[in-house]
This record gives sequence, C-alpha cells and structure tokens, in this order.
Amino acid sequence: MSTLSERPINPVVGEAIPHESASLHVTGEALYTDDLVGRTKDCLHAYPVQVMQAHARITRMDTAPALEVPGVVRVLTAADVPGVNDAGIKHDEPLFPDEVMFYGHAVCWVLGDTIEAARLGAAAVVVETDPLPSLVTVREAIAAKSFQGAQPHMERGDVEAGLDQAAHVFSGELDFAGQEHFYLETHCALALVDENGQVFVQSSTQHPSETQEIVAHVLGRSSSEVTVQCLRMGGGFGGKEMQPHGFAAIASIGAILTGRPVRLRLNRTMDMTMSGKRHGFHAEWRVGFDEEGHLLALDATLTSDGGWSIDLSEPVLARALCHIDNAYWIPNARVNGRISKTNKTSQTAFRGFGGPQGMIVIEDILGRCAPLLGIDAMDLRRRNLYSQGQTTPYGQPVRHPERATAAWDQVIGSGDVTRRCEEIARFNAEHDDVKRAIGMTPVKFGISFNLTAFNQAGALVHVYKDGSVLINHGGTEMGQGLHTKMLQVAATTLGLPLHRVRLAPTRTDKVPNTSATAASSGADLNGGAVKSACEQIKARLLEVAAQTLGISPHDVRIEAGEVRGVAYTSKRISWEELVTTAYFRRVQLFAAGYYRTEGLHWDSSTMQGEPFKYFAYGVAATEVEVDGFTGAYRTRRVDIVHDVGDSLSPLVDLGQIEGGFVQGAGWLTLEDLRWDESDRPSRGRLATQAASTYKLPSFSEMPEIFNVTLLDQAHEDGAVYGSKAVGEPPLMLAFSVREALRQAAAAFGPAGISVDLASPATPEAVYWAVEQARRATEHGHVDEGYPGVVPDQPGIGSHPMQPTSEAYERPVPARV
Ligand code: MTE
Ligand code: MOS
Repeated sequence: MSTLSERPINPVVGEAIPHESASLHVTGEALYTDDLVGRTKDCLHAYPVQVMQAHARITRMDTAPALEVPGVVRVLTAADVPGVNDAGIKHDEPLFPDEVMFYGHAVCWVLGDTIEAARLGAAAVVVETDPLPSLVTVREAIAAKSFQGAQPHMERGDVEAGLDQAAHVFSGELDFAGQEHFYLETHCALALVDENGQVFVQSSTQHPSETQEIVAHVLGRSSSEVTVQCLRMGGGFGGKEMQPHGFAAIASIGAILTGRPVRLRLNRTMDMTMSGKRHGFHAEWRVGFDEEGHLLALDATLTSDGGWSIDLSEPVLARALCHIDNAYWIPNARVNGRISKTNKTSQTAFRGFGGPQGMIVIEDILGRCAPLLGIDAMDLRRRNLYSQGQTTPYGQPVRHPERATAAWDQVIGSGDVTRRCEEIARFNAEHDDVKRAIGMTPVKFGISFNLTAFNQAGALVHVYKDGSVLINHGGTEMGQGLHTKMLQVAATTLGLPLHRVRLAPTRTDKVPNTSATAASSGADLNGGAVKSACEQIKARLLEVAAQTLGISPHDVRIEAGEVRGVAYTSKRISWEELVTTAYFRRVQLFAAGYYRTEGLHWDSSTMQGEPFKYFAYGVAATEVEVDGFTGAYRTRRVDIVHDVGDSLSPLVDLGQIEGGFVQGAGWLTLEDLRWDESDRPSRGRLATQAASTYKLPSFSEMPEIFNVTLLDQAHEDGAVYGSKAVGEPPLMLAFSVREALRQAAAAFGPAGISVDLASPATPEAVYWAVEQARRATEHGHVDEGYPGVVPDQPGIGSHPMQPTSEAYERPVPARV
C-alpha cells in the first residue's frame, strides 16, 4: 500500500459528515460573490449591450447616448483595453468584438450607479451592423466545412479487417443535444483596486489562476498584480472553468478606469444566452459484432458543436474520443473527431467533459443493435465488458475491470433485476397502453486531466500558536464538498478533531498556478497537496514530541488532538502543549504542500498514452414506465453501485452520485435546448432561455425508489487515503434511463425491433419512438414512407412538426 493511500487508525476521512457549509446553505448565510456587493461601498454595476443577430459585422457604434442617461458613469469599449483584447487563451475570443458571432453577443458594457441605470444606458447605445451568413446547426457547419481547432484521430487494430470478419455490421448516425449548466448562481465578478493599487477580483470561477492570468493580460499587468478570490460557487458544473474570465476582466477594466468597485452579474437570461453550454454532437458510425455479439470493430466520426470560439472544445473532444469505449472491449477502433464552428455560444466544459458525449455513442449503438442481433441489451452489455489484461483504444491498460463486473453483478442481485425483468415481461403482456423496461448500463471514467501538466496542486497550511489550524488549497468549492474533504484530510494527517481545522477561501495569492477544479480530480490533487503540507508540519512536531516524551519520533502518535508514545501509556501531552513547545523551540509551524500525479503520459498528436491515473466504475439499473398515448414516462426505480474507492466523505459522495445521476437524466431526457434555425431575423436565438421553457429535473422526476450503494473493497492504491474521484462519473449512469426508455418504447412493437431515440428523450421523442415501434412490421423493419419516424434532432434540429430533409438514420443492417 502506498503511503499516500494508507489510513491511520480512527481517521477523520471516511466519516459521514454533512457538507461543511450545509447549514449556511440552507439558512442563506453562505456568502457568494454577489453577496459581497452589499458590503462594498460605491459599487458600479455593469450591463452588456447584446446584439441580437446570429452573425454580423459592426459598422458603427455610438455610445454617447448612453452617457446622457442619468446614473451612467462610463461605457467600456475595445478602446479601453490596456492590454490584450481577448478573454480566452487561444486568442479567438475578443472581449470587445467588432464582429457579432452569435445571437446575444455582448459588444460593449455600460457602467452605472445602479443596475437599472446601466440597463437603460445599454439600451441607448447605438450599434449598426451588416448581417453576415450564419451557421446554426452542426449539420450546416459540416456542409460548409466550418471547423476549428485540431481534428484528432485515434486508432487501434485493423478496423477494416475487423468489419470484414464481423458476422454483423451496422451503421448509423446520432445527433444529440447539449445542456445548459443552470447553476443556481449565475456568472458574477466583483473587481476593485485595493489599497496597494493591485487589482482584486472576487469571481465565481472554477479556475481562479486562469481568471487571474486573463485579467492580467487584458489589463497589461503581471499576474503578481492581480489577485482572484473565490468564496464558493452556487454550482459550476464545468460552466465556470473558462467562461468567468472575460466577465472578471470587464469588471477589472471598469474598476481601474473609474476608481470604483465594479460588479458584473449576469441575470439568468443573459447567462443562458451569453455563456457556453455542453457540446451537442453529431456522430456517424459503423460497427461489427461476431456471432456471439462481441464487439469486433468500431469506426466512428464525432463532430462537436463548438460554437463561435474554441474555448475548451479541444480537450472536451479528446475526452469524448477517450470514452467512446465506455466499459467495453473494442479490439479494432478508429475514431475521428472534429469541432464545428457555429454561430452559437462558445460551448464549454460540462460535468463529464466530453466523456458523456463519447459514451452515449457506444450506448446508443448497443441499444439499437441488440434487438437486431437478437440478444437482450443487458446481456449484450455484460458480455462486452472489459476483462483483465485488455487495453483501451488509446493504449491504456484497463486496471480493475473486475470492479465493473462486480458492480454489475451486485446491481443485478440487490436490484432483484432478474425477477423484476420477468415481472415486467408479464406486465407488458397484459398492458397494451403502458410498457415498462429496465435499462442497465456501466460507467468507466478516466480520472486525471488529459493534459499531464494540469495534474498538480498546491496547499498552504498554518498552525497557529494556540494550536488552531488554517488550510488553504488551490481547489474551489462549488457544492461538490471539496472543502469538506480537505478539512477531513488535514484533520486525519495531523491527528486532530475536525473542529480544530478551518479552511480559508481560495485565493491566488495564497496558492499560485493552480489548475481548474475540474476533471473530478479536485480531491485527489488538492488532497495530495494538503496532506503533503500537513505531513511536513507533523514530521517537525513529532521530533519535538519525541524530545518531550523522551522517545523516538517513530513511536509518537497524535490522535484526536492527543500526543502520546505508542508504547507508553503513562505520559501524554495535548496538541496545544506540543505546538507551544514547538514554537518556543523555533520550529516552523506552517508549510506549503505540493502534489503531482505520478505515472501519467499522453501524446495528443497520436492520441495514445496513459492519461488517467485510474478509472472510476459504476453500474445503474433503471426501471421506467412509458405511456403509449403521450410518450410521458416516469422513473420507477433506480439501483446504483458506484466505485469511489475508500470514500473520503461518504455523505458527500452519496450526494454527488445522486446529483450526478439526476443531472445526467436531465441532459438525456428533459433538458431541451432549442435554437432558432429558421431564416427569420431571430435565427440563432436560443428559444429556451429561461426555466419556463427549459425543463430541469425537479423533485417530481426523482426516481420513486433510488438505491445508491458504494462499491465495497474498493481501496485505490496511489490516491489520497485510498479514495477515488466522484464528481463527474455518476452523471453517465443516467444512460440507463435512456436505454430503459428505448426498451419500453420497443415493447410497443413486435419483438426484435430496433428503436431510435432522439436525445434528449423528451416525452415527445419517446412518443415518436413508440410510434416507430408500433409501425414496425417485422424484425428491424419499419414501414416505408411513414413520416412520423423522422424524429427531430433536438438541440440542433428543427421542431418535430418540421422534419428536416436529413433523415435520422436507423442502424441499417449493412454488410461490408
Ligand atoms: N457538484 C455540485 N454540487 N456542484 C458542481 O458544480 N461540479 C461537478 C462535480 N460535482 C459540481 C458538482 C464537476 S463538473 C466536477 S469536474 C467536479 O464536481 C469538480 O469537483 P471535484 O474535482 O472536487 O470533484
Ligand atoms: Mo468539470 S466539467 O471537469 O468542471
């Protein structure tokens, strides 16, 4: 066992405690960035001038009328940028653009004494434009060959030979939608020039260091002159990895030019129309199976909808390619990736970071092909799971594949799946108008940033003379419970009760050069760093204790704040006494900790290597009931077994699994981003820009029975206290809902019918799937000429009443 993963006796990690801010969250006392405005004197408010055109060149901008509006103090334009006019790291995101790239693009910002003054000022700004042709869907972008960034290619084995050998070959396409983050707290920044003339920005950011870097380059200052703090976020979900930087930069320019603090907070409509979302994709594939239904070869092309700028689209696509195998062994695979450039918000990270977009492709393939192979979908998935000794298409050995099979078998057992499947078969035979099904899907998710350099973290730990402990680390808290875990790690390492340790907000002047809190690796990375800092201090204290107790440092134990010798029960001193003694002996009581994940390498040009420290596994079985008249459905029961290693904080992990699953179910079944694809002036407009039209999961969609179990005996050697990352992987357990809906829809038709399901599988989409099944006349065959089986392509497609000419292809048995 590595020293990193080894736990002392009676550790504080592993205790099921509530989130450190839970009581503050529910009482409303927890402070978020915008709560600081009330505590900040003479604050100005920033309001954007959004141009409502999908694509246009700005020919004239007159800001003078805004200054006539009472309370307007200043209008910020490109001329005000002291450094680089760019909000990104790829120089393709002008902060103040001269070309409108998407419907709602902000072209300048008005500062006012009140938000209302700023709003009226923004309305008074005159912007004249020349419209330009626009691309709104991925299919339009593909047709126009409008791509951006790298076009990765991943290959293993001989795909053509694999397809040649295959007993069954199918091909198909899938279009699936993106997802709005809908964090409760919208983007927010509060900037001021502090008493030393440096810029201080409070920002709702998952990546304070990058916010700092971009603010610095926009201002033409050095990073040391800019400090970014993040108290906490009301949800980030990946949406605050890259997108906060520009908003922080606007507020900072305003603060410098006016000498007053500037607050920039997007309202919900602005947030939804201006900030990036999960990427929707178009996928095309060919797949070959042997007689027994084993995957032999996969050839796929994934095209993501990147929106107007590249943002994080490249790493998101890389992760999609690295997850197209999900938990399945595919001996021969070739996957190509492209990022389309469209006139939409700049799509970005979202929980899973491309992983879900890769995995949906193989789950869709298995779900559509199982009936054509004459194999039950559950069996087909089970028999294709990885086994020991196999590697991923990018060449990484799959360690612990037995955890996926163990979780699978445990779900079958604890979920009573076999008996319920029989019961469902009887139920379906007796009911014509409602059908039930259980969908069961695995998750295998790679943990670490693909880009090796990001896998490092820092921490700063102080022990004060009174024995109290203050920790700082580079990670941000967005509700996921990272701070709770870090407190537990520090208390465990130092041997203290939890209440002796306090955690200070994330600040770039405490811990520099941090990575985004992302890729679910926040606890792994920062936990390693916090542990390292605490160990340095503890090693010094053990020396002091050894001298005091007259024993060897190796024999000193610090447990629950008590210091004693392992073999001596007579003499004990308190932690406080030890700290005081150490201080008077001039022993350093603070330390900077550092952690880097060992054993990673990744070559992005060949898409080969071992980019992940380990895989997180999970399995879910979901039972749904579908109404054949309307397509409406409900989730009757969910059983999940998920691998979090030895949990650092079981209640937090449970919350992450439940929340991730529900958020995934939202993406796959409810949340429907609709962009105006018509040629009307509103082309490119996000039609679903509020909670009234964008359906989020709520209590009423919660499964009636929801059983979540953490996988036993899951110690992860080489990760902090034997734990595993948890943030993103459970989202992908929600494929079980989509597959259950597909199977329930198929139950309305004859046996062996392959059913296509649009994504999101809204009741409307499920209705069309039911119709498709009902119209099926024989094995896999659907009546020709029936128009209803052309489901729209949600998120990138048209309204279902206006089918596009591009037919949504069913997997057609095609011999190669
Ligand atoms: N949970 C909550 N409550 N709120 C969030 O914003 N973000 C998710 C996940 N869980 C999120 C969340 C995402 S996208 C990631 S990458 C991880 O948390 C990040 O935190 P971690 O690395 O500490 O797990
Ligand atoms: Mo999470 S999408 O990696 O912020």
